[in-house]
Amino acid sequence: MSFSPKMLSRAAKVPRTRIVSPKSTIRGLATVVNNPVRRYGGLKDADRIFSNAYMRHDHGIKGAQKRGDWHRTKDIVLKGDSWIIQQIKDSGLRGRGGAGFPSGLKWSFMNKPNWQADGRPRYLVVNADEGEPGTCKDREILRGDPHKLIEGCLVAGRAMNANAAYIYIRGEFFMESDHVQQAIDEAYKAGFIGKNACGSGYDFDVYLHRGAGAYICGEETALIESIEGKQGKPRLKPPFPADVGLFGCPTTVANVETVAVAPTIIRRGAAWFAGFGRERNQGTKLFCISGHVNKPCVVEEEMSIPLQELIEKHCGGVRGGWDNLLGIVPGGSSVPVLPKHLCEEALMDFDSLRDLQSGLGTGAVIVMNKETDIIRAIARFAKFYKHESCGQCTPCREGTTWLEKMMDRLVVGRAHEREIEMLQELTKEIEGHTICALGDAAAWPVQGLLRHFRPEVEQRIAQYAAQNGQVLFGGHHRADINPEIAVPDNIGMSLPFPSTTN
Ligand SMILES: Cc1cc2nc3c(=O)[nH]c(=O)nc-3n(C[C@H](O)[C@H](O)[C@H](O)COP(=O)(O)O)c2cc1C
Ligand code: SF4
Repeated sequence: MSFSPKMLSRAAKVPRTRIVSPKSTIRGLATVVNNPVRRYGGLKDADRIFSNAYMRHDHGIKGAQKRGDWHRTKDIVLKGDSWIIQQIKDSGLRGRGGAGFPSGLKWSFMNKPNWQADGRPRYLVVNADEGEPGTCKDREILRGDPHKLIEGCLVAGRAMNANAAYIYIRGEFFMESDHVQQAIDEAYKAGFIGKNACGSGYDFDVYLHRGAGAYICGEETALIESIEGKQGKPRLKPPFPADVGLFGCPTTVANVETVAVAPTIIRRGAAWFAGFGRERNQGTKLFCISGHVNKPCVVEEEMSIPLQELIEKHCGGVRGGWDNLLGIVPGGSSVPVLPKHLCEEALMDFDSLRDLQSGLGTGAVIVMNKETDIIRAIARFAKFYKHESCGQCTPCREGTTWLEKMMDRLVVGRAHEREIEMLQELTKEIEGHTICALGDAAAWPVQGLLRHFRPEVEQRIAQYAAQNGQVLFGGHHRADINPEIAVPDNIGMSLPFPSTTN
């Protein structure tokens, strides 16, 4: 397909790079020169996909078309499923909903050999639940750029040979629902969706479905259950949604941002998108930064931007200065916290954060300075996951309850030191043993706390014991135990206590 010269010249613009030598390349005169390493970040406005993320312009169809949406969408649709999927694969796009699965590959699972003979309807489901604490990026798209999402539904839907898209939106998103519904209505009226979408001969419907605001309904199979009118409880996989999904039909669930970037990637070229970020981590991404920064914000930046640069450039730095930083949760509440020294190394991409034993997740950066009681902060996360567990799996239902109880005790230090190991073991009993990833999400923040802030936990326990006397397992005060009564030794009566305690 061909595009206007203006569009092509824009597509040809790859981000300008600064070439610098990293600290590790400082060397003596006799050593060989290391290859210069590219620094990422500094995305220019011209390369931003979400040009109305701050709602400064008209979110309706006229404004959207002025910003380039719905430009020659018919040509994209006419290119067909394999071509679109290849473009998405070449762009390196990975899902923006948290797991980071390669999107082109995921979408291709819908087109199994001989899929036409199947006869069932086929669906794209857009995940606009956005429940992960700290995450507030999709709502900016839904409010300011809803046409990008509707156009993305058509493009992604065509790639999967879907008949319709369901956008599952969080119930509390009132204005967002309003803007998305307006965009759907406008797109129908303009003939962009519906029968013979964009005049391409392809029929495609889009429906908006409002949820009731449960975090678990963001999990893809719980979301499907919820659209079907049932309680939002995750399904066992297999079968995967691409085989048996919504209403028993082939379905792919994709995040708002993932779907909304697809038309721009295709218009500007897969190579343009792949030119941002490190290998396997390409593209631009919406980051939402909250907590102890001077200016919390949502910003589209290049993938692989250093975490410190992201905060200093777009958020006016950490409150009290970088040296006042305690730690950062780099990808939403379910990923482990990073202490300051690791934040200085971290790049905002899937691989860098995985290597640091955390994760990019949804790109929700929660900054905590030294005013934070880190134990209390992680205890609050534990409370959230306990509240949101759907209760189907024993390790999650019981485990999140225990995590909450133990973390609440650790906030005041009312625990035996050996319970730190027990807490760690408990997270391992939950992790990987549940139907859905909520169990992992509950375990990881606690693991991060114990990995990086164990001395703080130990100190809290010692302080409590110094003031209140020795504590046994389960938070029992030793002084309260009546020696006249036979007590089974499952509360640690016979264990030695640290000499600091009385
Ligand atoms: C408990 C839980 C909550 C989730 N919440 C969301 C959510 O709010 N939005 C979202 O896009 N993905 C959420 N996910 C991930 C989805 O299950 C799914 O992987 C994602 O929507 C796929 O989109 P992507 O391939 O574009 O990343 C959640 C997963 C779990 C386990
Ligand atoms: S892991 Fe938790 S939330 Fe997920 S299905 Fe099991 S009980 Fe429900």
